[in-house]
Order: sequence, then C-alpha cells, then structure tokens
Amino acid sequence: MKIQSLSYVLIETTDLQEWADYAHNVVGLMRNDSLSDENNLYLRMDDKSFRFHVTTGQAKRFIAAGFNLKDQAAFEQAKGELSNANISFEDFTEEMIQARCVTAGISLQDPAGNLLELSYGALDDQEPFLSPQDIKGFVTKGLGFGHVVFAAPDLELSHSFYINVLGFGDSDYMNFPMGPAPDAPEIKLNFMHCDNPRHHTVALFESPIPPSGLIHTMVEVNNIDEVGYGLDRAMQNKIHISSSLGRHSNDMMVSFYMQTPSGFDLEFGYDGWQVDWSTFTKQESKIPSFWGHAFSPPEN
Ligand SMILES: [Fe+2]
Repeated sequence: MKIQSLSYVLIETTDLQEWADYAHNVVGLMRNDSLSDENNLYLRMDDKSFRFHVTTGQAKRFIAAGFNLKDQAAFEQAKGELSNANISFEDFTEEMIQARCVTAGISLQDPAGNLLELSYGALDDQEPFLSPQDIKGFVTKGLGFGHVVFAAPDLELSHSFYINVLGFGDSDYMNFPMGPAPDAPEIKLNFMHCDNPRHHTVALFESPIPPSGLIHTMVEVNNIDEVGYGLDRAMQNKIHISSSLGRHSNDMMVSFYMQTPSGFDLEFGYDGWQVDWSTFTKQESKIPSFWGHAFSPPEN
C-alpha cells in the first residue's frame, strides 16, 4: 500500500481549555470554530479542516495518528492488503467520517497497540489559515502534518509491520548509548518514510508505551526565527522544555521539544531534510544530534 502522509493526530484531555490556550498561545494553531464545541477542539495548521482533534475524556493522552491515502482505489487496495496479511481493522462509522472530515477510513492497531487510522478525501476548510501567533504557515505542502514517534516494546516486530504491511520505507536506524557510562543501555530507533519527501513520517522507539501514549509528534515551520519565537512563547507560558534547541543528525531538523498538555512531547522545528528517495540509501546513525538537544525529563 502507498500511504501518502501523516494527516492528523487525535488527542484526549481532561481540560480542553488548557489545550486551547496551549494551541493558541504557544504553538500558534488556528481553532476551527465551525467544527469545535465544548468537548471538541479542532486545530488547523494549513488549509485542511483540522490537523489536531482534541476531545474531552477521562485522561490526558495521545489517542491515534491518522494517515492519508490518495484516493478510493488506494484505500481499497490498502484494505485488501491488510485482509491478506490477516490484520484486523474496522471501517469508520458515519459519525467517525463526519468527525474526521474524510470520505472513508479504517482504524487498526500496530503490534504494540498504537492506534492508527487510514483514510482518504480529507477536506480543506473554506476559511484561509491564519495563525494566532502570525506564523507564516507550517511546512505541510506535499509532506503532510509532520511525524510521530511511537513506542515499540518489540522493535523488530513493529518495524516489520510498518515496512512489510503498511509499505513504509526505511530511512535510518539509530543506535546510541543512553549516557556516558560504558555499560549504559542502548537506545534503538527505526525511522521510516512514506510516499512523500519528508525524511521520516513515523519513527519507532524501543520502549514500553508511555502513559501519555506517544513519544512525540513534530510540526515544522519555515525558518529559524519561527522556531525561536516558538521557544520564547513556550517559556513565557511556562511550558516544560523537554529538550533544548539542537540539530538532528538524520533529518537535519533544527528543533526544540516541549511537553504538551496531554503529556507527550511536541517537537517544533525547521529545515527538515526533503529526500529524493530514488537516490537514497538507508542510513545508520550513532548520534541523535550534531549539537544541542539536551533532554530534561518532565517534572511530573
Ligand atoms: Fe522528531
């Protein structure tokens, strides 16, 4: 199957206003007023109806990542391939189709239990995108939302699922010691791309699934100043900075990480590598970043 891009993320919170404030004051996302209500916050970062859907619930956590397929034919092919691989999935109900602003979709789980959705026909909004923080657009055109990093307790099993069932391609395998001690445990990650030039749309981190449901997700802006202004806004709003500014060694992203109100991190970056896959060979990285990216665990 050919997944085009990451399309949206679904998030649960016990405090919708906290997310509304974070999205408006820190990230610079636009509230979709026509879709949002007292229990649903739909947030835009480009022409699409929404890219973040935050719902009121029992917990603060990541729920699911939605991926886009090109059209009905690609969607039917994906369903056929899942059936042939004995992977169970459920068709979207009419209510879900309405809520996701798509033509049709399915939901399924990866081997670690991360919830995924595949859909096609995502609608654009009628109103132009306008960031409440004057961000001159997020980098999504032809690339999708950004990326997600899922936990995978059995890295090989999950990696095989994304490559052999969902049709992702390998971008990088990263393996580095956690800390300076000679017997420090190894950190292992697989980075994978789908049918767009973004270096990775999904990465898998060898670990149990955290209480927040996700390691991190990433949004990309157009220049270093937008990253700097974002970092200023995060600090002014007393958001936990999970990682200092740095440049990753594999996708070249210059970014910082901050904790979202649902506990997982949001990487806020620019300058991500857009790869020509026809001339690319899979890489192996021994360091996560050229400089920076000093991680600080969350305080709670
Ligand atoms: Fe990332």
